[in-house]
Amino acid sequence: MIFHKTLTPLKGEITVPGDKSISHRAVMLGSIANGTTEVTNFLQGADCLSTIDIFRQLGIEIINLPSSTGPSSVIIQGKGLYGLSNPHEALDVGNSGTTMRLISGILSGQGFPTILTGDESIRKRPMGRIMTPLKLMGADIESEQDNGCAPLLINSKVKQSELSAIHYISPVASAQIKSCVLLAGLYAEGNTRVTEPVLSRDHTERMLREFGVDVLSDNNVTTVKGNQSLIGSRIHVPGDISSAAYFIAAGLIVPNSELVIKNVGINPTRDGIIKVCQQMGANIHLDNVIDKGGEPVADIVIKHSELHGTIIEGSIIPTLIDEIPIIAVLACFAQGDTIIKDAAELKVKESNRIDVMVENLSKMGADITATEDGMIIRGGRSLHGATVESKLDHRIAMSFAIASLMAEGDTEIIDADCVDISYPQFYEDLER
Ligand code: S3P
Repeated sequence: MIFHKTLTPLKGEITVPGDKSISHRAVMLGSIANGTTEVTNFLQGADCLSTIDIFRQLGIEIINLPSSTGPSSVIIQGKGLYGLSNPHEALDVGNSGTTMRLISGILSGQGFPTILTGDESIRKRPMGRIMTPLKLMGADIESEQDNGCAPLLINSKVKQSELSAIHYISPVASAQIKSCVLLAGLYAEGNTRVTEPVLSRDHTERMLREFGVDVLSDNNVTTVKGNQSLIGSRIHVPGDISSAAYFIAAGLIVPNSELVIKNVGINPTRDGIIKVCQQMGANIHLDNVIDKGGEPVADIVIKHSELHGTIIEGSIIPTLIDEIPIIAVLACFAQGDTIIKDAAELKVKESNRIDVMVENLSKMGADITATEDGMIIRGGRSLHGATVESKLDHRIAMSFAIASLMAEGDTEIIDADCVDISYPQFYEDLER
């Protein structure tokens, strides 16, 4: 797909699709709850559709009502903690790490075997990080190739594992690890506790409470007691701040832009992008801040700004981990250096996002260097068009569509269609 420098500012209001992390969780918790769950503004991205397909294969009735004019909704007839049934075939998560890691926790507590697989990218991503705590809980979970990656075999040796509660001290601040252990904890006797080095996104905890489950959060320590029933609920999914991030960046770098992004989730475990933009001197603020079903939501107001470089490190990293590719683009348009540290997790996302950002931005004329755990961007050089590869990573494709808006000449993005993972109508919205 070819992109050109924009001749017009971005002006007006936009809404972005529902939050990917929250959409996944709504289907998962709705499926193991007793009774009906209705989810509005569900993200119709490929990752979340994989989660729906899998729970259908596990015997859950799910009605998906996408809408091109308003928010879509999904209705799930939950069957309780032990109501899932044997799928009799491998479950395919596609590209979705969240699906694979979170449902491993749920499937470890079931009385039937399952095989979890997915696309080429997901079969290279580390699953040892969830297998280790699940095994400590007594789960029967193995990597088929014995390489710490999917396909994963769950309950292949036993009929049903007896899970025990543990206190897991996670070496990484990862919501996928934490959520996997907490969901397995629902099937264990006693209190399952996860301590993280820094609190990661807390959507699972917040949503479990919406389903009537007691979850204790004490800074970066989260505890859930086993065998609590979930009660079907109504979940409204806020706009995804990770999708809003591309329009935030576009509004900041394209001269004369003035944008309002409506109804975006601004959970404090996800709002690092806003803080970093402010740190860089951006004209950005929140309007109409409200609480909607346990998640804070606001309108984000952005005006084109002169940016300066900054240092991004430490506890803010988990709150913006998925936004680092677009932050790297922003940093190219800021005066001075931007240093990103403590972000080695970027290497195990849908692509190695340190290497891919450095390679692609260098091709466009940026002064950027990879480091062991991040990158250094020396801003202020103008970018030019180039041919860049998304590596089938949705966040890379969207980041370069935004970079192209201010690059001289044409930018070609190879495999640009992968945006359908988290934001199927991204290019239409950008064009508009
Ligand atoms: C997610 C957690 C993050 C994030 C991913 C979605 C989630 O991954 O990068 O896109 O929904 O829990 P980690 O938990 O591996 O950091």
